[in-house]
Amino acid sequence: MTESAALLELRTVTQQFGGVTALSEVDLGVPEGAIFALIGPNGAGKTTVFNLITGVYRPTAGSLWFGGAKISGKRPHEVARVGIARTFQNIRLFDNMSALENVMVGADARHDSSVVGAALGLRRHRREERDGRERGMQLLDLVGITRVAEDTAKGLSYGDQRRLEIARALATQPRLLLLDEPAAGMNPAEKEQLGVLIRKIRDIGVTVFLIEHDMGLVMQVSDRVAVLDFGQKIADDTPSAVRTDPRVIEAYLGAPADAT
Ligand SMILES: Nc1ncnc2c1ncn2[C@@H]1O[C@H](COP(=O)(O)OP(=O)(O)OP(=O)(O)O)[C@@H](O)[C@H]1O
Ligand SMILES: [Mg+2]
Repeated sequence: MTESAALLELRTVTQQFGGVTALSEVDLGVPEGAIFALIGPNGAGKTTVFNLITGVYRPTAGSLWFGGAKISGKRPHEVARVGIARTFQNIRLFDNMSALENVMVGADARHDSSVVGAALGLRRHRREERDGRERGMQLLDLVGITRVAEDTAKGLSYGDQRRLEIARALATQPRLLLLDEPAAGMNPAEKEQLGVLIRKIRDIGVTVFLIEHDMGLVMQVSDRVAVLDFGQKIADDTPSAVRTDPRVIEAYLGAPADAT
């Protein structure tokens, strides 16, 4: 099937909320080192996939696997520890903290040692703090927002907030980065830069799993695209094959002229 082994796998995953079947027997494989996109209409079940991966929900049926180990049933902090980080469809930042502090908090989420370090002695803690600032600035540089490092998160433009969320997620040093509609609210120039950034992230060795409505971006960056419709997977193929799939066009893309 695929040349590289799947880093992340969903095996016949079903997710029900009361009477609503958000996902119905969905199989997905995200190859290591790929940029994998998940698209589909509003309410198709895309964000539910991320909530299952990150341990927010337990699947009603089926299982999830990461690097060959089962992750369904793990709690969110346990999933973070195996190397999965995410951004949110509705931006979640510490509004009154600076951009740099937001990233440093992301790094702290990974290390229990920051608390322990503080307890053991200030010197080590201070060094960690300095290293943390340096790493934080490197990550802000990677996403292109060092100029606002000291600004509070709530004062940043929408596009910069989205990029800051990515930097914060990367601070946990994930193997897999989940991006939930990162281009939402961005202008065309920002979307262009986001495409470059997503490829850069993949090139430094992080597998990227992207949920996105902007088809230009999806087609531009993705190695593979899966399509959900009413909780069912209706396609899973190369971007060009998905773009011309009659079922996908009917369910989601509409007439080719509308497929922006
Ligand atoms: N916690 C929940 N409780 C009840 N229903 C839920 C819950 N989470 C999601 N759903 C329902 O599951 C379905 C899929 O929702 P989901 O948020 O995964 O869609 P989506 O594809 O991300 O949509 P969008 O493109 O609008 O973000 C919807 O019908 C939604 O109302
Ligand atoms: Mg969603």
